Amino acid sequence: MRKIIINGGKKLNGEITISGAKNSAVALIPAALLSDEEVVLNNVPNISDVDALEEILLYLDAKIERKDNNMVIINSKSITNKPIHEELAKKLRASYYFMGALLGKYKHVEMSFPGGCSIGARPIDLHLKGFKALGATVTGDDENIIIDADELNGADIYLDFASVGATINIMFAAVRARGTTIIKNAAKEPEIPNIADYLNAMGAKIKGAGTDIITIEGVDHLHSCTHSVLPDRIEAGTYIILGAACSEKLTIKNIVPKHIDSLLEKLKEMNVKMDIKKDSVTIKESKKIKATEIITLVYPGFPTDLQQVIASLMVKADGVSTIEETIWENRFLNLYELGKMGAKIEVNGSKAFIFGPSKLRGTEVNATDLRAGAGLIVAALEAEGKTVINNADYILRGYENIVEKLQNVNADIELV
Ligand code: UD1
Repeated sequence: MRKIIINGGKKLNGEITISGAKNSAVALIPAALLSDEEVVLNNVPNISDVDALEEILLYLDAKIERKDNNMVIINSKSITNKPIHEELAKKLRASYYFMGALLGKYKHVEMSFPGGCSIGARPIDLHLKGFKALGATVTGDDENIIIDADELNGADIYLDFASVGATINIMFAAVRARGTTIIKNAAKEPEIPNIADYLNAMGAKIKGAGTDIITIEGVDHLHSCTHSVLPDRIEAGTYIILGAACSEKLTIKNIVPKHIDSLLEKLKEMNVKMDIKKDSVTIKESKKIKATEIITLVYPGFPTDLQQVIASLMVKADGVSTIEETIWENRFLNLYELGKMGAKIEVNGSKAFIFGPSKLRGTEVNATDLRAGAGLIVAALEAEGKTVINNADYILRGYENIVEKLQNVNADIELV
């Protein structure tokens, strides 16, 4: 694994342009298999999770071409529906989207269980509940899973939890089922309408994506389409938090402010000075940052994926900040690393208390997962002195050109 080395304490200045959303791209790419024709995707981020999906597509004999300007062209006419073995499936959590896509198209999938960051138990029971409701049988063992159906028939599916992955995966299987599927208590994250728009552009009939009831009328054939990945709200949120922590004046461009409303409101409570425009946010040097309380929730609540990042800003805030994590069970490992840098933190079950303000000092820390790593980058840029972040590959899974983007705004950062 590579390392990121940062000499902190410098004020950041300039502009950062946000890339396409990881969490949308990692679903759009496997879903290209649902089409019988060529699919063109624009604004696909150049991140290692996309590389891993490309490997799986090539293994399945699909054709995939990546062009410089973030364009990906996928043709899955020649695909072979082979079992996706452990080495490929374990590379990323989102490999589970091949389940819905292959089941929808071929009514049969064999694959190893997905991998991903270690942020607690990551079951897929709700995905499987949906596939079964559509008529599939699920067999296998602890390692591999076989999902098979003679035919898929539309059904009413209630999700016990508004899971992002289950909502999307069920949409994939249901677009090529017979009849109408209704997903109740569906997830509403902005990536979901982006994915539904893509499937509709291929000829699917999906209504209600972005609300908690999604209706999908199955079709026999999906055709070619051209589609753009929406801007990454988590990448945007990360750089906005970074701006609040250590910039003089930083403008984050190509964003949809509405998608990060919960973050922007919290930053206002923290006394962060921002100028919010239609598709950009400028953060001005913010002094006297105040403590706040955060509870992670499904969209439009505060995103769990930004909890670990904002923790690094809370260290600077005056007073006791709290974070309550309700989505994942093991998402505070970054806080132990912040402790090594001088933060005063207590963790009690799903709640963390951050006692600020503390001055951070550079040291050697470990990125335990993608967003923990992003939080450590914020902390290291805030800190005095040199920080070495081990396991930087986790960060590169989800942030396009993060080192270059930060170098361009005056950060002293390198990847080794
Ligand atoms: C997606 C995002 C991830 C984000 C998460 C929550 C992608 C690729 N990843 O992950 O960055 O942190 O949404 O916003 O889009 N659960 C079950 N059974 C299931 C599925 C989920 O119990 O079948 C539970 C999980 O253990 C977790 C919660 O539901 O506690 C959230 O999971 P989910 O919304 O499915 O997250 P992902 O789609 O995996």
